[in-house]
Amino acid sequence: MTILDALDWRYAVKQFSDEKIIPSELEYLLNAARLSASSYGLQPYRIVVIESKSIRQQLLPFSYGQQQIEQSSHLLVFAAQTCVGDATVDRYIAQYAKISNKPHSELINFSNHMKSALAAKTAKERQEWAHQQAYIALGNLLTCAAIMKIDSCPMTGIDSAGYDAVLGLEEKGLTTSVICPIGRRHHKDMQAHNPKVRFDYAEIVMEI
Ligand SMILES: Cc1cc2nc3c(=O)[nH]c(=O)nc-3n(C[C@H](O)[C@H](O)[C@H](O)COP(=O)(O)O)c2cc1C
Repeated sequence: MTILDALDWRYAVKQFSDEKIIPSELEYLLNAARLSASSYGLQPYRIVVIESKSIRQQLLPFSYGQQQIEQSSHLLVFAAQTCVGDATVDRYIAQYAKISNKPHSELINFSNHMKSALAAKTAKERQEWAHQQAYIALGNLLTCAAIMKIDSCPMTGIDSAGYDAVLGLEEKGLTTSVICPIGRRHHKDMQAHNPKVRFDYAEIVMEI
């Protein structure tokens, strides 16, 4: 199956079967998301994996009744950091130093550059920036899931404050960006029969 075939195969599933995604496939998929690009490499988000049915039942009232929350094999919540700033950079620099075997002193200019770039943004802009990075990971996850024939449904039709409260995200310095149930499509999912509606190549791609 080519990548385009996989992207054509996937759709936003409305009804999942009760088939579970096996742990090794789940870990592989999450690693694909973990390897995503992010601005400066700062990765200002976490991916929360929820299998528990009881937690998902608590989330249902904050999901406008969308049953995928409960039916799917696993529910993934992409959660952005709420306090992006110097600590975000320090954490990354510590990891960079460890992985590259470079002394901290060699990374000071890089660190200061990132800190001043973030400081130049308003708190709202920093929050928006963190959400944007989480969406890149979501995009990668959707594509990789399709290649692995794992079904998914990206979702923002939720009350994110309710999600934050149920999952205790605020205390962890996080807030919900977007969620994504994953699993296998139910053979009765009517959405599977709907056409894929995309603009033509020339209406999306603009050559100048
Ligand atoms: C950011 C985002 C939020 C979405 N929110 C929902 C949602 O709350 N519920 C839902 O059923 N589908 C949701 N979708 C799925 C879109 O409706 C779907 O991707 C779009 O109609 C294109 O169809 P396809 O993905 O099936 O090809 C969302 C998609 C994205 C990217």
